[in-house]
Amino acid sequence: MRVIGKTASIAIHSQPPAAKVVSTNPPRTDQRMFASYDTDMAKTKVLREWSLEKSTQFYSKAVELMPGGVSSPVRSFKSVGLTPVFVQSGQGAYLKDADGNRYIDYVMSYGPLILGHAHPAVRVAVAKQLSRGSSFGCCSPLEIELAETITRAVPSIEMVRFVNSGTEAAMSAIRLARGVTGREVIIKMAGGYHGHVDAMLVSAGSGATTHGVPSSPGILQSVAQSTVVVEFNDIAALKGAFEAHGGRVAAVMMEPIMGNIGVVLPRQDYLRQVRDLCRANGALLIFDEVMTGFRVSFSGAQGLFGVMPDITCLGKVIGGGLPTGAYGGSKALMNHISPAGPIYQAGTLSGNPLAMAAGLATLQYLNPDDPYASLALLGRRLEEGLAAAAENAGVPIRTARSGSMFTPFFVPRGGDSGTPITHYSDALKCDTRAYAVFFKSMLEQGVMLPPSQFEAWFISAAHTMDDIETTISKAKTAFERCAAEAA
Ligand SMILES: Cc1ncc(COP(=O)(O)O)c(C=O)c1O
Repeated sequence: MRVIGKTASIAIHSQPPAAKVVSTNPPRTDQRMFASYDTDMAKTKVLREWSLEKSTQFYSKAVELMPGGVSSPVRSFKSVGLTPVFVQSGQGAYLKDADGNRYIDYVMSYGPLILGHAHPAVRVAVAKQLSRGSSFGCCSPLEIELAETITRAVPSIEMVRFVNSGTEAAMSAIRLARGVTGREVIIKMAGGYHGHVDAMLVSAGSGATTHGVPSSPGILQSVAQSTVVVEFNDIAALKGAFEAHGGRVAAVMMEPIMGNIGVVLPRQDYLRQVRDLCRANGALLIFDEVMTGFRVSFSGAQGLFGVMPDITCLGKVIGGGLPTGAYGGSKALMNHISPAGPIYQAGTLSGNPLAMAAGLATLQYLNPDDPYASLALLGRRLEEGLAAAAENAGVPIRTARSGSMFTPFFVPRGGDSGTPITHYSDALKCDTRAYAVFFKSMLEQGVMLPPSQFEAWFISAAHTMDDIETTISKAKTAFERCAAEAA
């Protein structure tokens, strides 16, 4: 494993229109779709009522049964010094926990729920499919419908293979790249997270960074040796990596917008330069759009920036809250996968009908404009409101956002002001203690945030401007608490 270089300058990136956007989807219907929700869920409880008594009881039982009491590390609230909240239900933009506390939710299951919790269209589609059977071990027409929707929307994808998670998509994309090129080395970005794939658990973001183990024990040295790490946004470092390993590089694997060290945007022209370098060196470019796919635009980050990868990994939104992933690319490339070609990859529950139904119901509710324009408006207001509230309280933060993906970075006091976070090393300097104070105050006031500085917040189509304003007003109190604790 090697980490190569870092440069300093920054430019504002442009956002060219999507290269291929064909949609026959109906426009999103209005908030009446949510009328069947328990309207009480919209009201958050006041501070004095907040308690995690039942969650704490669940947690003490859970730690006896599951490592750390959780099924995925970031769900443990370890890095913010709390016991995890056990959730009972979610509706629209809100969560209700085991103690009856209600929260405006910005975790949104870490991204899949672009329509909000328990969206009626998704509920109906899943219920309908469940009554017909939950898994067949045979092909089903829903797979074709979802594949068609994805290939129409995502510019570089002509053919997809469905898997069960983003991790599987990333793992399989790497196998495809290695199988097709006959090369071994994968270049990844410092802090990039591609699921818990062995080769990618080197300098990994998300829970790995949150819990301070970005390179996990249990990864064979021989596997880690084939992974070369460079800083995101540092084209000189990538050139250096190609010079050092040129003919051995199978692929560059990257999130086009980083989301697992908090949101970090690509510099102007950076993605195009990466694309050119891959082409010049005979390496494939893999965009891991598990988080950004159907999130930052209907055509993903590749549509937003007009840069086409060879292979795209998808997950999260395409499963509408059920476990699904996919990887895709040109027909020529994808036909190397078994049984069309020799590169083996399989799955008992791949293309699972319930997941396909949930994903399809979700994607059918989206189109190139809607709800992306309104999500961006909500996102902008949240970003501006939080930045102003932090400034008034004297808490230094730097915000980064793409549409409905957002992170406020709690930058160190007295550090250089105004410089955006462009690298993993910048993100690592953030004041995680201040984030923990902010997180706890927001939780107590009924706002659920990711329990880590190094995650993105997600806004859904179920959030309203009222939710955003409520969040901003609660953030004022939370920032004041951060300022008081820092004094
Ligand atoms: C960019 C990216 N790739 C891959 C993954 C792994 O996806 P999953 O958790 O579904 O395995 C994630 C999960 O957060 C992700 O953000």
